[in-house]
Amino acid sequence: MDKYIVVGNPIKHSKSPQIHHAFAQQTGQSMDYSMFEIALGNFASYMDNFFSEKGCGVNITVPFKQDAYQYADVLSTRAQLAGAVNTLKRQEDGTILGDNTDGEGLVKDLLAHEVCLKGSRILLIGAGGAARGVIYPLLQQLPKNMVIVNRTREKALKLAQHFHTYGPIVGFGHDEIGAQEFDLVINATSASLSGNLPSIPTSIFPSSCCVYDMMYSSNTTVFNQWATKHGARLCLDGLGMLVGQAAESFFIWRNIYPETKPVLMDMRKLLDQEK
Ligand code: ATR
Repeated sequence: MDKYIVVGNPIKHSKSPQIHHAFAQQTGQSMDYSMFEIALGNFASYMDNFFSEKGCGVNITVPFKQDAYQYADVLSTRAQLAGAVNTLKRQEDGTILGDNTDGEGLVKDLLAHEVCLKGSRILLIGAGGAARGVIYPLLQQLPKNMVIVNRTREKALKLAQHFHTYGPIVGFGHDEIGAQEFDLVINATSASLSGNLPSIPTSIFPSSCCVYDMMYSSNTTVFNQWATKHGARLCLDGLGMLVGQAAESFFIWRNIYPETKPVLMDMRKLLDQEK
């Protein structure tokens, strides 16, 4: 059976096996998908082993996305720009393709919720790996403009500079946003992990505003609670992005695009049961 794995450290909370098993069942694909925790520093040797034993593909999560980027023989444009790889595929000629499906997962989830991206004003909060991975696919949707705001201002400026040839994008520090309003606000900070909020003005949320928190949890995320309180129209969390990036990986490997909606509904139910 064709072998696929997801690797990370830690990995035991990964939902990827459940998601890919559901996709395989739905599309009638015969494939094995399991998860492995790799010790820090062992990524390349683990991959060498896996691919030499005819492994077909790998999903990569924290903290190995940069290692996977280094490991790949060929990179997609979006992986190159993201500087990180979450999907590896052994190609027919034996070379390893590195791709990054995170941004497309986010875009597809937003479009599935009828969030209009073309011509929109997007605020991206955070300038770490999570933010960097989604900028290019978002710019490809032709927003009116995109503002990156970050606690450490220099990182936002640097990221905007990195992507400026792909669309209208600027970087700011937290205190520089002023009175701007946005159609879509995306939280790509790790602040929610510790229950914190970025210190940005609540005036960014007009009543037509949609909010996307890349985090997800069984309860409404702290960021989405805050955005709702301050007037956001629609608040989504990152579970849809998780399922969406998995669907993109599945497509890269199997050349079949699975239906994400039923799988997302099942994952939401599972998450609710964990409450
Ligand atoms: P990830 O790969 O999840 O993006 P990261 O690369 O460590 O993780 O980036 C974390 C992001 O969350 C950064 O933009 C960070 O801001 P700094 O660059 O100033 O560190 C942001 N972040 C983390 N905690 C935050 C907080 N309490 N308030 C605002 N931003 C925060």
